[in-house]
Amino acid sequence: MQIISIFAAVKSLQQIITPIAAEMRQFEAFFAQTLKADTDPMDGIMRYVLDSRGKRLRPILVLLSAKLFGEINEQTLRAATFAEMIHSATIIHDDVVDGDDRRRGQASVKAAFGNLSAVLAGDYLLARAMLLLAQPADLVIMQEMLRTTAAMSEGELMQSIVVDCVPQSEKTTQYLDIITRKTALLMRSCCVAGALSVGAIPEQVQQIADFGLHFGILFQLRDDLLDGENTEMAQALLPTYLNKTLKALEGFPPTETLQALRELTTFCAEREG
Ligand code: IPE
Ligand code: MG
Repeated sequence: MQIISIFAAVKSLQQIITPIAAEMRQFEAFFAQTLKADTDPMDGIMRYVLDSRGKRLRPILVLLSAKLFGEINEQTLRAATFAEMIHSATIIHDDVVDGDDRRRGQASVKAAFGNLSAVLAGDYLLARAMLLLAQPADLVIMQEMLRTTAAMSEGELMQSIVVDCVPQSEKTTQYLDIITRKTALLMRSCCVAGALSVGAIPEQVQQIADFGLHFGILFQLRDDLLDGENTEMAQALLPTYLNKTLKALEGFPPTETLQALRELTTFCAEREG
């Protein structure tokens, strides 16, 4: 009885995103179409990437942020696809750098195809993603997304040369700085891009950007706890960031989209994978 009630309290991701179920199907079709390569070896890797799908949190953030302020359109779908492609490129390269053979419950791209293929597949994804937003109407979203993509590489590099001699008092600041760059800024940009795609006003964009940033930090704190990394700091910071994320949603009209963003936040804080 106890177990049933615990499960009932946390909705599945699938249930949470029912308000954007139709648009997620459109995203999936567009994502698959955009990944298609002209040549067999790259297309084989792209099919592998498509088959080992993740949670799709970044496109979900783009779509929900758009729906909060307007109607999801083709620019929203382009931004969502860009975000998932950059995310895919990042994790493919990450697994090369970290020497990880497992990803999403199966062999990582690096393990399945080798380091050279994995590096080139990541580069391919980045270039195809940029092509997707390379038209004048998408310039502002492209700039937002590329600034973040650059910051992600900076965050990853900072993490790799992190020094232990930092005074205890600065450890948390340094940790938050790294996870902001490597993870949270992309989630923030997903929210910004979604809002911009439906013509949200600057105040609205700023408010959903705040949500996205805090959501991204919260996500990485939970990720570190699941991975057994930085557990003390992550444990101590998680309740604060859960509060900050939910607080950033205050003031929006009570719609089913807002409810979905709230539930997504709880899901992120409590997820097991
Ligand atoms: C994993 O992100 C990589 C990090 C930024 C920590 P996700 O947990 O969103 O990856 P998938 O797409 O669901 O596999
Ligand atoms: Mg991870």
